[in-house]
Amino acid sequence: MQLLLKGGRVIDPLAGVDRAADVLVEDGRVSAVGAAPDAKIPAECVVDVSGKLVLPGLIDMHVHLREPGLEHKEDIETGSRAAAAGGFTGVAAMPNTIPVTDNRPIVEYICKRGRDVGLARVCPIGAVTKGLLGESMAEIGEMVEGGAVAFSDDAFPLADSGLMRHVMEYCRMFNVPVILHCEDKSLAGDGLMNEGLTSTMLGLRGIPDEVEEISTARNILLARLTGCRTHIAHVSTKGAVELIRRAKEDGIPVTCETCPQYFTLTDELVVGYNTNAKVSPPLRTAEDVEAVKAGLADGTIDVIATDHAPHAIEEKEAEFAVAPPGIIGLETSVGLVMTELVAPGILSDVQAFEKMTATPAKILGIPGGTLAKGAVADITVIDPAREWVVRPEELKSKSKNTPFGGRSLCGKAALTILGGKVVCRDGEIVE
Ligand code: DOR
Repeated sequence: MQLLLKGGRVIDPLAGVDRAADVLVEDGRVSAVGAAPDAKIPAECVVDVSGKLVLPGLIDMHVHLREPGLEHKEDIETGSRAAAAGGFTGVAAMPNTIPVTDNRPIVEYICKRGRDVGLARVCPIGAVTKGLLGESMAEIGEMVEGGAVAFSDDAFPLADSGLMRHVMEYCRMFNVPVILHCEDKSLAGDGLMNEGLTSTMLGLRGIPDEVEEISTARNILLARLTGCRTHIAHVSTKGAVELIRRAKEDGIPVTCETCPQYFTLTDELVVGYNTNAKVSPPLRTAEDVEAVKAGLADGTIDVIATDHAPHAIEEKEAEFAVAPPGIIGLETSVGLVMTELVAPGILSDVQAFEKMTATPAKILGIPGGTLAKGAVADITVIDPAREWVVRPEELKSKSKNTPFGGRSLCGKAALTILGGKVVCRDGEIVE
């Protein structure tokens, strides 16, 4: 099987490539980048991608696919459809499923469902403690053998520093990263949104920045103690960016991510008790948004993930205090990155897409993230000039909980190619 992508601008951040070139795919792998011998390629295998960006398949290292157990919010099939529509060929799925992804059979089940659906590479993240209860370590080695790519207790962060140390020592032994949702639950108490002027005006209990920063600082220190590759999830505060910047200067093995909501939105969006603006960590202030952008620009923030967190309409249509936190992100990420970071010149497109391809692939140790000859042909073609409006009802995700509804964006995935096969074209899944 051949596929020739003709006339695009090829960006392969890992290889330092940014040039006009054709990409030839044969038998599921990249076989040439450059002027391809199109005389031999059948016309039906040639796709004109002039004016478009040809990138390694995008990887979102932080999503919630909700299967097993919470399929009323999302499942591996609908989540894979959302990924493909958003331009993602790889996703790493968090373990807060029911039952919890804390053992090898569930890890293997998720891998198999992902393969059977065949629209994205679904990589499970295993829980670090059994049942996400923070009490005893899960079977990390067995889950690695079953296909887990990283370990996290996600939104149930491990308070016990001694146990966290052991987890990190195990993960280091298996050379897998821990991904840490940094939240000091005892300080967060029953806070509902960022603590500040808006929370005061709305009469909602606040979550101070220190909730995130105390936990970030502890985890950085444990990374220093253990040498474990430590990835800080969804950075949202100026202070957390600063802590990570310093840790990197000190040579501590820390990487981190942020998500589009933290470089585009502020806590003022909660006004009106908007549950689609309820997320954990919470939306912060304009000063934090600027600090996150600065962290992206200077390389402190390595990765752009989404924390795609689907919740059913009836769950989000509750009172602010009881609605679950979370925002879907797979289908809006490319547009937000291009509109809010690349267009204003905060990041070049090469820098932006490195944070969505090569870097997450490297952290997770998974294939992809490059268009080098012989690489698996996971490719995303983006139309940088495509203007569109986010219409939640048109999204492929089973859930519609986005605060970006009605927003005008520029930039969208035109083709998503998985293992050499076109799985999505202009937002429509190719069955
Ligand atoms: O807002 C969030 N929702 N943050 C998390 O860390 C977890 C997620 C979820 O699972 O819904």
